[in-house]
Amino acid sequence: MKRLFFIVFILLVLSCFNSSNACSIFVTEFTVYIKSTIVGEDVTLRCQSKDDDFGYHVLNSSKVDYDWSFCQNFWGSTLYFCHFWRPNYEQVFDVFNNTIVKHCIQGTFDDNICSYEVRDDGFYLFKQDNYVWVKWFDWKQASSTELPKEYTLSP
Ligand SMILES: *[C@@H]1O[C@H](CO)[C@@H](O)[C@H](O)[C@H]1NC(C)=O
Ligand SMILES: *[C@@H]1O[C@H](CO)[C@@H](O)[C@H](O)[C@H]1NC(C)=O
Repeated sequence: MKRLFFIVFILLVLSCFNSSNACSIFVTEFTVYIKSTIVGEDVTLRCQSKDDDFGYHVLNSSKVDYDWSFCQNFWGSTLYFCHFWRPNYEQVFDVFNNTIVKHCIQGTFDDNICSYEVRDDGFYLFKQDNYVWVKWFDWKQASSTELPKEYTLSP
C-alpha cells in the first residue's frame, strides 16, 4: 500500500512538470478558438470569465482569429463568455461552460478545442463529438452598435 502511494505521488509530481500540458493531472487543458469568416467588416469581441477580462480585439482580414487556452478547474465550473459587435448587430453568449465542454473534447488530453466560426448569418460551433458545424447563435439586431464608451483595443 505504501508503495502504491509512493508511485501515485511520483506520477503527480511528474504531471506537474509535464511541459506538453500546462495543466495538472486533475484538470484538462482547453482552447477556445474563434475565427471570423465575415469579409469587409470588422467584428469586435471581448471575452471574459469571473476572473479574467481579455479586453477588446478586432477580427478582420488583417487578423481573422482569436484564441486562448486554460485549465478547466477541478470543479468543472470554468465559464468564459464573449460579447461580439459588428455594424448593426451584436451578441453575447458562453463560449465555454459545463454544457459546451462535451463538444470540445477530442479524446486526447492536450487537444480539446472549442472551435467557433463567426459568419455573416450567425455563430457556429464545431461539435467535436459529432464532427459537424452547428449554428449556435444568430446575430442580434442592435439599434446602434453599442461598443462601450471605454472601448480601447488590447495589444
Ligand atoms: C483590422 O482592425 C485593426 C484594428 O482596428 C486595424 O488596425 C486594421 O487596419 C484592420 N484591417 C483591415 C484590413 O481593415
Ligand atoms: C452554456 O452556454 C450555452 C450557450 O453557449 C447555453 O445555451 C447553456 O445553457 C449554458 N449552460 C450552462 C450550464 O450555463
